[in-house]
Amino acid sequence: MSTSPSITVVVGNPKASSRTRAVGEAIANRAAVAAGFASEAGGVTNTDVIELADLGPQLFDWSSAPVRAATEQLAGSTLAIIATPVYKATYTGLLKSFLDWFGQTGLAGVTAVPVMVGASAAHALAVEVHLRPLLVEIGATVPTRGLFVLEQELDSLDATITTWLEQAAPLLAASVRR
Ligand SMILES: Cc1cc2nc3c(=O)[nH]c(=O)nc-3n(C[C@H](O)[C@H](O)[C@H](O)COP(=O)(O)O)c2cc1C
Repeated sequence: MSTSPSITVVVGNPKASSRTRAVGEAIANRAAVAAGFASEAGGVTNTDVIELADLGPQLFDWSSAPVRAATEQLAGSTLAIIATPVYKATYTGLLKSFLDWFGQTGLAGVTAVPVMVGASAAHALAVEVHLRPLLVEIGATVPTRGLFVLEQELDSLDATITTWLEQAAPLLAASVRR
């Protein structure tokens, strides 16, 4: 049982402070309420953002202390939002380079939500077809549908999250370790 549930948002955009990051953080806030970590009025006390753009080339240095710290942060999370823009119909190479640090049980006990922001509805299933299996491969529990957000619909992000939560909320609440 975790006495202090923590939420981590991983941002796989090579450009820092992106719209993808904002989407990930918005989902984290809503998912925290859905999972019972926070009330609508109160904030989550323990949310971290891993901005992979800040780690850059260090991702390829297996002795990198900052990357190791980031992997430990993610592995110790109760709930993780893994957010990436769609690049070439899949997740970014930056995100893959980070997730390559994890073994097959690296994210055991972590409930993960796959999230993609893309420009083409033709790639809406990439979140399920590509990102979900990657998270499962490294041991995460992925109880909900992945969330694909069209960049043209970012103005209605809150409504998109609300619709997704109709199915996802009870699954998140049941999945997270306490
Ligand atoms: C190199 C590159 C490749 C992309 N490939 C795709 C793609 O295959 N499918 C898609 O829907 N969008 C693609 N996009 C568009 C991005 O996914 C989209 O603009 C995304 O919302 C960007 O998020 P951001 O605003 O956080 O950077 C691509 C963008 C770039 C820069």
